[in-house]
Amino acid sequence: MDLIEAMQTQGTCRSYLDRDVPDDVLYKAFDAARFGPQGGNRQPVRFVVVRDAAKKRQLKSWYLDQWNPYLERLTGGKIGATALPKSVKAADEFAQHYDAVPALVVVCAEISGLLATDRDLGRLSIVGGGSVYPIVQNFLLACRNEGLGTTLTTLLCAAEASVKDLLQIPDDVATAATIAVGWPARPFPSKLTRRAVDDIVHVDSYDGQTLAR
Ligand SMILES: Cc1cc2nc3c(=O)[nH]c(=O)nc-3n(C[C@H](O)[C@H](O)[C@H](O)COP(=O)(O)O)c2cc1C
Repeated sequence: MDLIEAMQTQGTCRSYLDRDVPDDVLYKAFDAARFGPQGGNRQPVRFVVVRDAAKKRQLKSWYLDQWNPYLERLTGGKIGATALPKSVKAADEFAQHYDAVPALVVVCAEISGLLATDRDLGRLSIVGGGSVYPIVQNFLLACRNEGLGTTLTTLLCAAEASVKDLLQIPDDVATAATIAVGWPARPFPSKLTRRAVDDIVHVDSYDGQTLAR
């Protein structure tokens, strides 16, 4: 499919058909994703595709441990399930069915292959994940190209020690995300809600002129 169309319609998929994603389709998506840039071309990214039902149930339980308090904070514990905003309700339904997603792809990174050039700035490191997420985004787009829906999640990373134990991920490897992958139960969005170019791009200074069209 057209690259720009894929980028503009690769939205978060909150419900999936009860249909397996075959190896060869995933293989094709990973084969495209791996060309993403990585610092020094050290290639530290690894993936674990979780299809096993018992393992998915366990991941769901740890996901809900993170999701439930997050939802509570989001709603102040005051809004009933029926009054939740549509996007939050969809995310909650997704969380309650996390184990029903055909494949949960746990994104891992060898820590020795990451270089956080902003690590001494006394704030949260952004660069630390810089070698990981271009490949992740490539994977999301490659899945879109195959007609697969995806949801990028990071809540499970808070339960990293348990996840690593479950999936036998080595000590010197970190988890960076878990991507839900499956055939979407509903059509892809025709347009995603995002800020306009003029809101996010300026020339020569942070609040400088916007680009001419
Ligand atoms: C870094 C990152 C982490 C995310 N983590 C989660 C998550 O843990 N759980 C979840 O339901 N959605 C998660 N999302 C999905 C976002 O909520 C979603 O991309 C956003 O609401 C926009 O949705 P849209 O792409 O469908 O417009 C994450 C997205 C990103 C980029």
